[in-house]
Amino acid sequence: MNLRRGRFATAIAAVATSAAVAGGVYAAGGPKDEAALEPARPAASKNVEKRVDALLRKMTTEEKLQQVQLLSDGQMNEEGGARGDREAKAGVGGVFSLVDPVKINHFQKVAVEQSRLGIPILFAYDTIHGFRTIFPIPLATGSSFDPDVASEDHKIGARESAAVGLKQIYSPMVDVSHEPRWGRISEAAGEDPYLNSVMAAARVKGAQGRDYSASDKVVTSVKHYAAYGQPEAGRDYNTTDMSEQRLRNLYLPPFKAAVDAGADTAMCSFNAINGVPGCANKRLETDILKKEWRFDGFIESDYTAVAELLNHGTAASPADAGAQALNAGTDSEMVSTFIRDNGKQLLAQRKISMARLDDAVRRILRVKFRAGLFENPYVDVAKAEAAQEQPEALAAARKAGGRSMVLLENDGKVLPLDPSKKTAVIGPLADNAKDMVGPWWGRGDDSKKVTVLDGIRAQSPGATYAEGCKLPGNEPPQYDESEDCPTTDFTEAKAVAGAADQVVVAVGETRAHSGEAAARSVLDLPGNQEQLIEAIKSTGKPFVVVLFNGRPLTLDGVVGVAPAILEAWFPGVQAGNSVADVVFGKVNPGGKLPVSFPRRVGQVPIYYNHEPTGRPCDVTQKYVSRHRDIKSCDPQYVFGYGLSYSQFEVTNLRLSRTSVSSRGSLNASVDVRNVAGPAGDEVVQLYLNDPVASISQPVRRLRGFERVTLSPGEQRTVTFKIDRSDFGFYDNSGRFVVEPGRIDLYAGNSSKATMRQSFTVTGG
Ligand code: NOJ
Repeated sequence: MNLRRGRFATAIAAVATSAAVAGGVYAAGGPKDEAALEPARPAASKNVEKRVDALLRKMTTEEKLQQVQLLSDGQMNEEGGARGDREAKAGVGGVFSLVDPVKINHFQKVAVEQSRLGIPILFAYDTIHGFRTIFPIPLATGSSFDPDVASEDHKIGARESAAVGLKQIYSPMVDVSHEPRWGRISEAAGEDPYLNSVMAAARVKGAQGRDYSASDKVVTSVKHYAAYGQPEAGRDYNTTDMSEQRLRNLYLPPFKAAVDAGADTAMCSFNAINGVPGCANKRLETDILKKEWRFDGFIESDYTAVAELLNHGTAASPADAGAQALNAGTDSEMVSTFIRDNGKQLLAQRKISMARLDDAVRRILRVKFRAGLFENPYVDVAKAEAAQEQPEALAAARKAGGRSMVLLENDGKVLPLDPSKKTAVIGPLADNAKDMVGPWWGRGDDSKKVTVLDGIRAQSPGATYAEGCKLPGNEPPQYDESEDCPTTDFTEAKAVAGAADQVVVAVGETRAHSGEAAARSVLDLPGNQEQLIEAIKSTGKPFVVVLFNGRPLTLDGVVGVAPAILEAWFPGVQAGNSVADVVFGKVNPGGKLPVSFPRRVGQVPIYYNHEPTGRPCDVTQKYVSRHRDIKSCDPQYVFGYGLSYSQFEVTNLRLSRTSVSSRGSLNASVDVRNVAGPAGDEVVQLYLNDPVASISQPVRRLRGFERVTLSPGEQRTVTFKIDRSDFGFYDNSGRFVVEPGRIDLYAGNSSKATMRQSFTVTGG
């Protein structure tokens, strides 16, 4: 995975002198590039290595086994915190989910002043899309096709996290997924490895800066390594069977991008890959991540994932599980304590080696030194609160929300609505703050959140409201979906809508419907929300359906009923303001789908970058690859799709050459023009296809994109650089190969782009 300056697309103003659009385009495959951008980690100075070695030499075996232990806030708080004091004094390595700066300082002081060697604790948290200023969920950020949104999110999340004493975040989550049933599809950038790679690198750089020892920076942990996004049946934690070429071409690239960008920690995954659990997977952890990619940070297990090796049926005992995890390359054990408890015995039995234990400890200490924890172990409690929810952070979250929304339908130009008209706001998510922050809300419940109703009323004063129905979105283990929007009596909602000039309908999922351990077997709007939409339609008023959800939904019952549909995902603490900005036209929507929306759940997995078949889908034929009960080969909405209040044309795809050696490169340029409507954004997308190769290649692969803002009538040229990292691929023996022959490029504004140019790769 390369992060090269040369890969940045340039947008050249053709009719205006406006500056080139910022943001990078990154190669998502291929061998290590020497010209990689400087990573967002402090250089591993000799000094750090010397200090690590000196400290390691002083450590007893017990102290080393403490260093590889990672405990939760709950564990530290046991016995009124007495357990935490004991753990800190014994030299525990890491603690996660503790967020009170006073407590963090307290345990840190015990570790620094009362443990024998005074090694500071690394405090971590799941700052996934914000700490207190919650940004849109990562799937939404994927929709923005704007790496600046991801980087601002993590810059602010890092600042707010670091202000309470946290120094590591369990993010970016980069699990590519073709599984909308899986609730955690909400946590990454969707189905494409390239888009996920760009967003991953932006998040790492935003959170770490150039030196994560800075007081407003944290070290990132890229997760869940690996292929956690492809659980069978979409059930969380479920097993995965994966060919080598798919693993390398689809699932590993975003991890590599994060590591190349400087991510110094990683989290191994719960799931088994080809029968080998992520946290006992030597090939993934040691051979690929540590050796092939030269990752010198540490890997922590996911929550009790080492203990779960017993359930996976690959370990016979806790000691066996601890040995398997450590030997595979897991350096730090979260929550369960198998390595620590059994380490001495395993060393005596030579089931683990001191060299490997030293290596794990060295990696953890290296990150602690790089994080500056030895120099600055404490946080300034007095400043912790002032760093939260600063006006500029809230403004960034509001902007991010608007940039992440995708306009799916706008028949008859219903949108934008006129704020001076009488607006009704209807639906179970209309006056709802809790669910707007999505399934990983961090400390968002302590934040002031703007509901859709608040946001609409701020721009259309006097807007009226009816809930329509209740959407409790029950938490586990009940999951009583029969309580979700159970009514069909929408009399009040109809009356409120009927008395207004225009209606905003806020429906979708609650935050409990998606996220961890929240797989769904149907993807429809929960309960009778479709009937609520029908009821609003019966009033004859112009209306827009605004969707809040953490996954692609099946919208068969909404498309064709609602004239306008706006996909808002879970926009974060500024949800209502972001929605109002788009609905009333202050912001012209420019987001694109980072994931396909199936028509029906039976189409899953359905994704744009699929391989061809011997009998391609054709709905006029029988003996072809299709569903007999679906009269289309496509999903409802394709990857890369999204409308705007303006109309754009992407034209004139041209190449700088038509033949290139396997080590050469070429430029592909296109023109993009705002042909009608107000100023707005278009995402220019470049796809590649290798039509004849030694193994079937995806029908399309995204290899470049650029979100461009254009005034009315403005035209720009966008140029992408293409090289072997784009036209090569990994084969089933894990080799990156570049094969001679024709390569087709497609450019446009979705994965259905038809404008094509070809070139030939010569040599091998
Ligand atoms: C389990 C989740 O899978 C992981 O993403 C998270 O970082 C840990 N819990 C810690 O909260």
